[in-house]
Parts: sequence; structure tokens; C-alpha cells
Amino acid sequence: MKNKRIVSGMRPTGKLHLGHYHGVLDNWLELQHDYECFFFAADWHSLTTEYANTAEIRDNIHEMVLDWLAFGIDPEKSTIFQQSLVPQHAELNLILSMITPVSWLERNPTYKEMQENLTTKDLSTFGFLGYPVLMASDIILYKAARVPVGHDQLPHLEITREIARRFNFLYGEVFPEPAAYLTETPKLLGLDGRKMSKSYGNAIFLSESAEETRKKVMSMVTDVERPRRTDPGEPDRCVAFTLHLLYVPEEERAEIVEECRNARIGCVDCKKRLAQHVVDALAPFRAKREELAEQPGLVEEVLAAGSSKAMAEAGETMKEVRQAIKM
Ligand code: TRP
Ligand code: SF4
Repeated sequence: MKNKRIVSGMRPTGKLHLGHYHGVLDNWLELQHDYECFFFAADWHSLTTEYANTAEIRDNIHEMVLDWLAFGIDPEKSTIFQQSLVPQHAELNLILSMITPVSWLERNPTYKEMQENLTTKDLSTFGFLGYPVLMASDIILYKAARVPVGHDQLPHLEITREIARRFNFLYGEVFPEPAAYLTETPKLLGLDGRKMSKSYGNAIFLSESAEETRKKVMSMVTDVERPRRTDPGEPDRCVAFTLHLLYVPEEERAEIVEECRNARIGCVDCKKRLAQHVVDALAPFRAKREELAEQPGLVEEVLAAGSSKAMAEAGETMKEVRQAIKM
């Protein structure tokens, strides 16, 4: 029954990796059966950090959306669009920026954290501070009931709810307050044991070749307290094993745990087995992606059609907004 609306966006960073698969895309795939979904490329959000470096954004959108489609995000079921093709996001952003106290934005933990960590970029801009206001616009423009996001996005969603509440208080009830849609997925680590991220260079991409995937799996950190093959290992300390949890069938996995703890299997052999499972699991995706990549203009058509659908919905909401604020 499609009675509830879902909105979620992704900043276009290019090809997607396993960290996007587990926790985001798998979630979207489920949701599109039961909800009316709006999924979009948040290219204006990319500008908040990449304003000096826009050359790649278009390409990144293309690669990302191709990954979505190959994964099974279906333009027949969901509205797939590009934020910057729906100008109502900017209009609502402007109006919401008038009623959002700067203090709400300054105390946002993500804001502080990124200011401190991304020291190579000057993030002391108006737009970067306003990131959550634009995100609030994305969400309430479609009167979304739920927003599938990761834990890191919860502070932003809380600001969205506060902004919606404030709008309703000032101008009358227009926006429902969206709730988060969280799923518990095992934490996915990159090759080096840090969080998987393109910028850390530790990611396994969905679209890379079987050979590359194999090489990367073989390079994964294992149990650092097992320097020698003859030492017993502990899967709970092993970075590679976080992938076993997702890709190796339970029975085989139990066997590996046993063998690892008794030093009956070496990490090289263990990762070879793991790599095979990962490669097999991704094979249908890769084939589908290659097939879709051969259709010129496909992504652009999907985005154009989706954006005009989104715009029709957004236009309805903006009528109500203008009426509410009497302008
Ligand atoms: N901030 C989100 C992220 O970095 C992307 C995003 C932009 C988003 N607008 C959104 C997510 C609206 C959900 C809803 O992942
Ligand atoms: Fe990890 Fe496998 Fe090595 Fe054990 S044998 S430490 S599970 S890679």
C-alpha cells in the first residue's frame, strides 16, 4: 500500500561503494515496494563543499544514478530526480532560511565536526552553515513522512523537524514533521579498518571488475594480533570478517570462525574464499550496469522525467506555502 511518502537524497560523489550498498541502497530497494519514494541527487548540497571544484559534479551524478538503476532502484516505481532541476528546493530554502535561527545551525555537531576535519577547504560560507536548511527544504517540500538516513544524519533531521514546527507555528499547519527511517546494518569498514569512504581511498566500489575486487579484498587488514599463520586468530577483531558477516553463508562462516580460532586456516586462504563470495554477489549488478551504460542518454532521460514529476509535486506545496505566508 503506497500511502506514505519517503524522501532521500545522496550527494553525488561518483561511483558508489559497498558502504552505500549496505545501509542505504538496500534500504531504498525495500522501501520502494511499500512507499511512494522520491530519490534524488543532491547536487546543490555538493556545492556546499565543492563550490571551487564543480567540474566533476555532472559526471558524478551520472555514475551515481547509473549505480542506482543497476541496483534496482526503479524509475517505474520511484521518482528519481536531480535537485537542481527542481528550483522549488531553492525557493523553499530561501523562505526557511528566514525563520531558522543561526544558533540552531551553529550548534549542529556535523557542522562543527566538518569545519574541524576538512581543513583543506574553506567552509566558512553562508551556504555551508545553511546545509541543514536546504536539506529541510528537500524533505518537507514533498511532505515526506519518513526519511531513510544513516545515524550521522540524525542531527540534520532533527533540525528539519524543528524548522517544520516553526513554520507551522508562524504560518499555520502546512508541513508534517518527518521521522527518520533507520535500519540496523552492521558497520561496514574499509580496507584499512576505518569507515569505508571514497576520500579515504579504502573503498570497494560496486562497479569495479572482479579482478580489482579480489585484489582489494586480499589487501584487507585482518586480525592485527595474529602476526603469524600459526597464531590463533579472532574474527571479532578482524576487519575482513566484517565482510564475511555480509557475504559468507552462515554455515561456512561458522566453520571459518572455528578454523581461525584454532589457527587451522591462514588469512590468505580465508580472504580468497571471502573474495569469491563478494565477486559472485556483485556479478549480476556489474552485468546490469554494463548493459545500462550502453544505453546513451538513459540516465539523463530518467532524471529529466523524474524531475518534472517532482516539480509538479513541489509546485503544489509551494502554492500552499505562498498562501500561508501571504505572498
Ligand atoms: N545530507 C545527506 C547526506 O549527506 C544528503 C541529503 C541531502 C539528504 N538532502 C537530503 C538525505 C534529504 C535525505 C533527505 O547523506
Ligand atoms: Fe580474519 Fe579469516 Fe584471518 Fe581469521 S583467518 S583473522 S577471520 S582473515
